[in-house]
Amino acid sequence: MLFQNARIENAPVTSFRIADGKFEAIGPDLTPNPGEEVIDLGGKLVLPPFIESHVHLDTCLTAGDPVWNLTGTLFEGIECWAKRKDKLSKQDIKDRVNRAVRLYAAHGVQHIRTHVDVTDPSLVAMETMVELREELKGVMNIQIVAFPQEGILSYPGGKQLMIDAVKLGADAVGAIPHFEFTREYSVESLNFALELAAKEGKLVDVHCDEIDDEASRGLETVAARALELELFDKVTASHTTAMHSYNNAYVVRLMRLLKMSRINFVSNPLVNTHLQGRMDTYPKRRGVTRVKELTEAGLNVSFGHDDIFDPWYPMGTGNLRDVVFMGLHVCQMMGYEDIMNAYKFITTNAAKTLHLGDSYGVAPGRPASFVVMDAETYYDALNTNAAVLCSYKEGKKIAESRPAQGAVLF
Ligand code: FE2
Repeated sequence: MLFQNARIENAPVTSFRIADGKFEAIGPDLTPNPGEEVIDLGGKLVLPPFIESHVHLDTCLTAGDPVWNLTGTLFEGIECWAKRKDKLSKQDIKDRVNRAVRLYAAHGVQHIRTHVDVTDPSLVAMETMVELREELKGVMNIQIVAFPQEGILSYPGGKQLMIDAVKLGADAVGAIPHFEFTREYSVESLNFALELAAKEGKLVDVHCDEIDDEASRGLETVAARALELELFDKVTASHTTAMHSYNNAYVVRLMRLLKMSRINFVSNPLVNTHLQGRMDTYPKRRGVTRVKELTEAGLNVSFGHDDIFDPWYPMGTGNLRDVVFMGLHVCQMMGYEDIMNAYKFITTNAAKTLHLGDSYGVAPGRPASFVVMDAETYYDALNTNAAVLCSYKEGKKIAESRPAQGAVLF
């Protein structure tokens, strides 16, 4: 099948051919073979599929059930979730995740890294997510992080639950150092998590310093262990919102270690802006990590949604455009090149974090997975909230849309 007049990643128009689920050739001079199906993309933007690099699918689509989070704080969110947790069952999780995956797919997402709470002796959410990963693999590549919401050292049997979650099939090991009872627990939890990952050959993704406390310094331990255990870019630090509040002298020292460690970062601009700075009067901190400075230092940063319509974040339709839009504003990255290249936060940068390797990207020999947007450049796509016209996964169309038509009557 030949696609003509495609603007791949903002480049001038070209053509590409897909065959047997792979990109066979890309170039402006491709001509149709006898009898070959030809699709004229009319100069529309083609991007590699979008990647959700940080979300909690086990809590998604529960906002207002049974009660709404009226203050919008993290703590009221935890209270709301405690009331919802009673209804948690395999069927409940499957129903909601199936709905969420379809929302994401409609917006061109084909890969999701989900954190799943394992501070639950039944491990029902982990078990269910492992089944869903298999059931949905034809349409969505799901990566699972064993996430100890209530701590590894601070929750009874926390270490064993992490080991059990990895045995059940988690792809990555998580941690939550800023939530542990003490600084000592925080350091020990990170040593435990990274050593477990090294031993079992897993990735690491830590909820790291998601707090406005400038004394929360889990990140330096994550980076040091990633370096010493030679895990490097297998390790990801999510959130790192305390870095927003660190003093600059400390950050200069920290940056050296971060560069040596080569770890990835995931920022969640919607949820961090919504939940951080809540203890401040004025001025109120934005509470988003230093995306601009990390990017300039050559470190890999991607953006995630974190929560979709749940007790901690009352909005979300699986459209990562919202995440990028907020991220560029709050991180003050609104230069022309910043906007044009912003799709990388939810495509190629996220692919590095998820270690997708050669299975990702618009290039000959790779799986023919891509999206077509109703815009010519990513600048226009972001500015107009352009629809994803179609989403192909390994040569098969898995979603399409027809943009709404409107008219001004004067
Ligand atoms: Fe999270």
